[in-house]
Amino acid sequence: MKWWQGLWGASDVAIAPMQRSDAIEASDIHRAVFARPWTDGEIADLLGTSSVTGFVAREQAAHGGAIIGFVLLRAAADEAEILTIAVRPDWQGHGVGARLMAHVLAHAHRERLASVFLEVGETNAAAAALYRKLGFAIVGDRPDYYRGTAEARTRALVMRHDVASARKAR
Ligand SMILES: CC(C)(COP(=O)(O)OP(=O)(O)OC[C@H]1O[C@@H](n2cnc3c(N)ncnc32)[C@H](O)[C@@H]1OP(=O)(O)O)[C@@H](O)C(=O)NCCC(=O)NCCS
Repeated sequence: MKWWQGLWGASDVAIAPMQRSDAIEASDIHRAVFARPWTDGEIADLLGTSSVTGFVAREQAAHGGAIIGFVLLRAAADEAEILTIAVRPDWQGHGVGARLMAHVLAHAHRERLASVFLEVGETNAAAAALYRKLGFAIVGDRPDYYRGTAEARTRALVMRHDVASARKAR
């Protein structure tokens, strides 16, 4: 971590819609955090699909403006599924993941979606804590999940954010 990251925190990080041209930087981050990373071509193909939306987090332009995290979600009818979320290792724990997920939920409200779903490996305590904090609840599980940082297969928890209820409660 660079000295200025601690001074800024995630409030100085800009969140923007993800473009296909962001795919190479995003795949570098994916490779840094997942045992089975997605290539830039796979990420660009997903972004070329009308049902897929992404957001990127960038550090300040004065410090290079590099992408430090991203999230991809796919919508179907009135539901969306988080396909992946990743924050560059040296930026983890500084609120970037929380800000990306807040943008996802704001997007879900704007699009009047009913639910946002995701799957998280049961041993991924950091991600599960982030999702719980944002109002996701466990609605099921799936054995034989294989998407985490470890090579071993594990059980995944299926979590849901009830966007429709949250909208009514506003
Ligand atoms: C999971 C991930 C996206 C979280 O992003 P992040 O920027 O590191 O998380 P944040 O700093 O925004 O933390 C938000 C909350 O998550 C939880 N959290 C984050 N890191 C944590 C850790 N190491 N242990 C426990 N809880 C943690 C906390 O509840 C935290 O809130 P708090 O700071 O108020 O306590 C990021 O760590 C990552 O890219 N991990 C590797 C890839 C991955 O596992 N993706 C998810 C697959 S389902």
